[in-house]
Amino acid sequence: MTSLPKIRPEMDEDRGLIARGSITGIRRFSRRDVDQWCRWPKHQDPLFQDYNPPDMDERERDLWYAERLARPDHAMFAIVDEEGELIGRLFLRQVNPDARSAVLGIDLRSDVLNRGYGTDALGAFLEYYFDEMGYDTLYLDVAAYNRRAQRVYEKLGWRYTREHWNTYRAGFLPDVFGDPRFEPVRRYFRAGLGTISVLHYDMVLTRQRWLEGRQRES
Ligand SMILES: CC(C)(COP(=O)(O)OP(=O)(O)OC[C@H]1O[C@@H](n2cnc3c(N)ncnc32)[C@H](O)[C@@H]1OP(=O)(O)O)[C@@H](O)C(=O)NCCC(=O)NCCS
Repeated sequence: MTSLPKIRPEMDEDRGLIARGSITGIRRFSRRDVDQWCRWPKHQDPLFQDYNPPDMDERERDLWYAERLARPDHAMFAIVDEEGELIGRLFLRQVNPDARSAVLGIDLRSDVLNRGYGTDALGAFLEYYFDEMGYDTLYLDVAAYNRRAQRVYEKLGWRYTREHWNTYRAGFLPDVFGDPRFEPVRRYFRAGLGTISVLHYDMVLTRQRWLEGRQRES
């Protein structure tokens, strides 16, 4: 990884950061971020097409934002780089204040992958989640073929719990059964009648496990 300028503490106030890593900051996701997100370059990897921002006009963007903001069990965050540029989105779904748990979602801009931003941003966010929000458990699920994401979650302490198959309409994904490029990951897919199922792993990170990880680091 190339060395990148650090996020300085004095930047927090200006940028409304709620959490700060070494090379990323986290703040609430704004309506302006939707416009930025819609300009992100597309993923070239056919298995990651689903992460491409949808084509939306101004009104659709307003609606997209308003609808998500109104969801009572949902929270959206922006990941910014050292220049304050939007480089990622982070979501909490199924936020449950009684159980003190939520389900995590994250995606970065396609041209910044594999540079340490995801690990840095999630590490910073976990501090906010467990310390500031006072939550206890953070769940997620990840496609079995997505080794990069799994590696990040493993590094940060998530543990595998179960697995399940998610089913989509057949055209949703590339031809994983016929195209030789997908041979190494083919076992993670199942063909149905007009459908395709994808193996997913369920993972969990508890506050206890996160604290243990922090102690090991210090
Ligand atoms: C998943 C995601 C957030 C991770 O962020 P990132 O900045 O790309 O990841 P990082 O650079 O911090 O770390 C990637 C790690 O995976 C490793 N890695 C990358 N490709 C890999 C592969 N094919 N197999 C195994 N490990 C891999 C890297 O070596 C690195 O580990 P290391 O630090 O031990 O060397 C980002 O890649 C992303 O948004 N991807 C597209 C959307 C997505 O997959 N979202 C998650 C859905 S569950």
